[in-house]
Amino acid sequence: MPDAPVLVVGGTGMLGSQVVAHLVARNKHVRALVRPTTTTAPLVAAGAELAAGDLLDIASLRNALDGVDAVVSSAAGYTRHTPGDTIETDHTGNANLIDAAADAGVRRFVFTSILNCHEARDVPHFWAKKVAEDALAARGVPFVALRPGAFVDQVGMWGGDGFAAGRIAWMGDSTVPMTFVYTPDLADVLAAAVDADVSDGERIDIGWDRAVTGRDIVEIAGKILGRPLELMEMDPAQLRNAGMPDDAMKDLIAMFDFFRTGRYVADTRRQAEVFGSVPVAEDAIRRRLAALGHVA
Ligand SMILES: NC(=O)c1ccc[n+]([C@@H]2O[C@H](COP(=O)([O-])OP(=O)(O)OC[C@H]3O[C@@H](n4cnc5c(N)ncnc54)[C@H](OP(=O)(O)O)[C@@H]3O)[C@@H](O)[C@H]2O)c1
Repeated sequence: MPDAPVLVVGGTGMLGSQVVAHLVARNKHVRALVRPTTTTAPLVAAGAELAAGDLLDIASLRNALDGVDAVVSSAAGYTRHTPGDTIETDHTGNANLIDAAADAGVRRFVFTSILNCHEARDVPHFWAKKVAEDALAARGVPFVALRPGAFVDQVGMWGGDGFAAGRIAWMGDSTVPMTFVYTPDLADVLAAAVDADVSDGERIDIGWDRAVTGRDIVEIAGKILGRPLELMEMDPAQLRNAGMPDDAMKDLIAMFDFFRTGRYVADTRRQAEVFGSVPVAEDAIRRRLAALGHVA
């Protein structure tokens, strides 16, 4: 069924919108699951077909999966893309999608997971990914889980563009090496994973040529920009006053605690085998700064 659609779940999100573009560029027929509250014009402009639905409504998922070849999901509730979303989406919503995909007999399910989620029992949104991976396996869905590190796109973006301001606020310990990804690169491998030569049930770490610290990123970015950047380390406990829901705040603080253990580091050997190359930190940071308009 070469023309059968790839269902993208989360296609209105920061990462998912880029996955849609990469799939269209690969001549895939893309169907995007969309909630009634979201903005769909960019998806239509990108060439996607729309399927109305919601992860919390399993009947809508069964409709959206009709005739589908593969699924790519980057959806999440804990990110609160739409106000009122909660981590319940990452449990019940993902369970619904996995059940419906199992029943529909999809050829492949590409799941956006999180690096080393299986080691992070105390970080609710990491653990929800581990639970979803296990559910995919238990339901016999042919899946590949890509497990990216932290999005470098979010570095320096607390309260505006820190690279423009010359000051990067860094939440947590800036001396602990950890793995990052740049979302255009992640979107590319998520789209490639639909047809990649992998075994069912593989979990593949996604990162750069090496783990880097906050200080490394600020130093590399400063060299590229040709001007020094100030690093302002922030204590994650300050999130207690950030006005976010209690569960979201605790989840984030637990995540920064996990980062501090030094275990948020990828083994990218399988990434290199399957996808051909692993981005180099300096190059990814340069491309990020170019996208922000700071370098050519
Ligand atoms: N940020 C990081 O450092 C990091 C690291 C590793 C992995 N990840 C993973 O990367 C993925 C993508 O993140 P992102 O930044 O692109 O997220 P995002 O911009 O917040 O997008 C979330 C998407 O999920 C959709 N969604 C939420 N609840 C839904 C529901 N009930 N039914 C259908 N769709 C629903 C949203 O649709 P609406 O438009 O309707 O709201 C939106 O398209 C997430 O799975 C995240 O866990 C992130």
